[in-house]
Amino acid sequence: MAKSTKKTETPLVIDARNLTKTYGKKRSEHKFTALKNVSLEIAQGESVAIIGKSGSGKSTLMHTLALLDKPTKGELYFAGQRIGKLGSRGLNRTRNRELGFVFQQFFMNANDTVLNNVTLPLVIAGRSFFTRRRRAMEALRAVGLEDKAKNKAKDLSGGQKQRVCIARALVNNPSVIFADEPTGNLDSATGAMVEKILFDLNRKQGITLIIVTHDEDIAAKCQRQVYLKDGEIVSDTKKSTKSAKTTKKTTAKKAPKKKTTAKKGKK
Ligand SMILES: Nc1ncnc2c1ncn2[C@@H]1O[C@H](COP(=O)(O)OP(=O)(O)OP(=O)(O)O)[C@@H](O)[C@H]1O
Ligand SMILES: [Mg+2]
Repeated sequence: MAKSTKKTETPLVIDARNLTKTYGKKRSEHKFTALKNVSLEIAQGESVAIIGKSGSGKSTLMHTLALLDKPTKGELYFAGQRIGKLGSRGLNRTRNRELGFVFQQFFMNANDTVLNNVTLPLVIAGRSFFTRRRRAMEALRAVGLEDKAKNKAKDLSGGQKQRVCIARALVNNPSVIFADEPTGNLDSATGAMVEKILFDLNRKQGITLIIVTHDEDIAAKCQRQVYLKDGEIVSDTKKSTKSAKTTKKTTAKKAPKKKTTAKKGKK
């Protein structure tokens, strides 16, 4: 195929506009604003590290972008679709089909088998038994744990548990994987293995990777580093190296033009 020299615009997978998140009741003295007017655009296939001190709002931002929590103010578009407009069914469907999650604390049904843990998103999506099994085994193969499918989740090592979580995040063929401190509970060798799986998914399959981390080495491996301080983006730097070559899905529509001139972080 002839190489095109034309610069094509990669569709935005996430377009967050002026997100604010306040915890606690309106007039309560415990009210706390964890995100302040945060605007962030993430293109398909990017790898983005969200960095900042403890309490700076990293998990809050990630949970909001991952549709696990609603912003108090602001608009969020996912693949051109305004999230605020979706009902709970549409929201669950987008979350279930388009997003994968990997958390520091694993979150699995410890007494259930590895296979059942991995198939869970497919059960929610209403896939048939055979599809569930096939896809789950493929995902387990991708993380090198095919042989543990029948084991109980609680019997696995920490690194294996995290790989099961990655398999579960992968099983619905998501366009974005959100990882919150995915290597935080692992020793460095196991962490490196988990890290490699995540970056391979980004590079080889074009899955957008958004990773919250305290680890400067992991952050440096991402194409982009977004620093948060006290609920605000204080810097947004992009490596000048080539961006991800493959993009997984092309269904993203361009979100409507902004009404306000939201402040963008420097690139
Ligand atoms: N449910 C909640 N109710 C009240 N305050 C909250 C809630 N969740 C988070 N916060 C507060 O919001 C701020 C941001 O929290 P967040 O969990 O996003 O920080 P973080 O950057 O992820 O920190 P860490 O690196 O320690 O995980 C903190 O001050 C926290 O105490
Ligand atoms: Mg956190």
